[in-house]
Amino acid sequence: MSENNFDLIVIGSGPGGYVAAIRGAQLGLQTAIVEKDPNLGGTCLNVGCIPSKALLHSTEMFHFAEHSAPNHGINLSNLSINIEKLMAKKSQVVSQLRAGVAHLMKTNKIKVFKGLGKLSGEQKVLVQNADASETLNAPNIIIATGSSVIELPFLPFDGEIVVSSDDAIAFESVPEKLVVVGAGAIGLELGSVWARLGSEVTVVESLPTIAPSFDKDVSKMAERLFKRQGLQFLLKTKVTGVKKEANKTYLSAENQKGETIELEADKILVAVGRKANTTGLGLDGHGIKTDAKGRIAVDANFKTNAPGIYAIGDVITGPMLAHKAEEEGVACVECIAGQAGHVNYGVIPNVIYTEPEIASVGITEITAKEQGTEVKVGKFNFIANGRAIASDATDGFVKVIADKTTDQLLGIQIIASSGSELIASAVAHMEYAGSAEDLARTIHAHPTMSEALKEAALAVDGNAIHN
Ligand code: NAI
Repeated sequence: MSENNFDLIVIGSGPGGYVAAIRGAQLGLQTAIVEKDPNLGGTCLNVGCIPSKALLHSTEMFHFAEHSAPNHGINLSNLSINIEKLMAKKSQVVSQLRAGVAHLMKTNKIKVFKGLGKLSGEQKVLVQNADASETLNAPNIIIATGSSVIELPFLPFDGEIVVSSDDAIAFESVPEKLVVVGAGAIGLELGSVWARLGSEVTVVESLPTIAPSFDKDVSKMAERLFKRQGLQFLLKTKVTGVKKEANKTYLSAENQKGETIELEADKILVAVGRKANTTGLGLDGHGIKTDAKGRIAVDANFKTNAPGIYAIGDVITGPMLAHKAEEEGVACVECIAGQAGHVNYGVIPNVIYTEPEIASVGITEITAKEQGTEVKVGKFNFIANGRAIASDATDGFVKVIADKTTDQLLGIQIIASSGSELIASAVAHMEYAGSAEDLARTIHAHPTMSEALKEAALAVDGNAIHN
């Protein structure tokens, strides 16, 4: 096989792309991966999930030291924050994982090409970088080019004051007044980070609740808890523009009464969603269809309408989540290799990594009702959980939604410290089509936060022990 001939070429090295490449190599395919950025790992590793988690962890510790340590008899004084060091710690985490991905490419014998990848005729990808361009050939090409932040036309990014999450993970100092547009995952996570460091944070959201993809009771509790942490929320408020004066900037918005609001801001973080990255890929030249939102249209096996070209992750329909992209990467390659690759879209966990964390799997109570399904709901508050009391983590609850007739689990929502870890067993029960009774009869170690899951499942039939 000549140097540039492969069985599989993956364009994009985010969690979807690099995992697809590894699965390809595992299945015996000669695999190449093309990445336009200097580092592998995509948005998640370089400017998304990972750096934000590092910042969340550091600032959670600061918040604990400032607000909770004395209650534990831990006396700390002269607390201060060294932003440079905090950011250096974040960068070290990212560097370590970047090296990890590069190492995985090497050990799996995946050839890495640095440059912009473009479809260039049947079975061909042109890779262009500042120094050279070369053509790679393969009968199977996977597009895994991810997504990028949506820019509001009346609030364009300037990289200084009006910024995206890419910049808000790297502020050089703590902004005095931070206005966040959008109370979704990014807005709440980065809003929390900077509020903990002392910013006055106001989150502007056009919908009536924060974290709108969760049930109302979850969103309401999150709002109450985050307010206690100093975040302010302006709900049902639409952003209309930005006013820049000599040394002051104001975000303009309109509240539900139609009144105009002006919010002074040192930084404005716009976090209103992301859009598929398809520009410059050569889709038009290959007649590849996209949907109304510009995402690449694929069938159940991730095939586009062009032979041998597949797409996965944020660039196709579905939630823009790293773990969804990874599963699709694996399933897509397995389909290419003649196996029965499959993604169970009904059980993709969704997490917002605030404190407490908000996590869910399956459908909400509202969605179940909208679908006309009769449900039973069980809830258990962490205030009645021994481990939560011992760990100062009593804020939150677990909510279990089950089919009224069959008892099958339809959805589970958690608002709790470590909710991101707790959701895993809920996902496993749903993956195996478990019932509320299956979860209720599963033995959970005592004392653990996870007992709240069992109790909420027991509560579905009114049998919680500690309620
Ligand atoms: P998002 O879609 O999660 O939230 C955007 C929020 O902005 C929504 O609540 C929406 O109602 C609001 N909004 C939209 N236009 C607005 C406007 N003009 N004025 C006020 N509010 C407005 O998007 P986000 O937070 O930017 O995240 C982007 C993607 O990245 C999402 O798909 C998200 O799932 C993913 N992500 C996931 C994370 C996680 O799993 N923890 C972390 C970060 C991002």
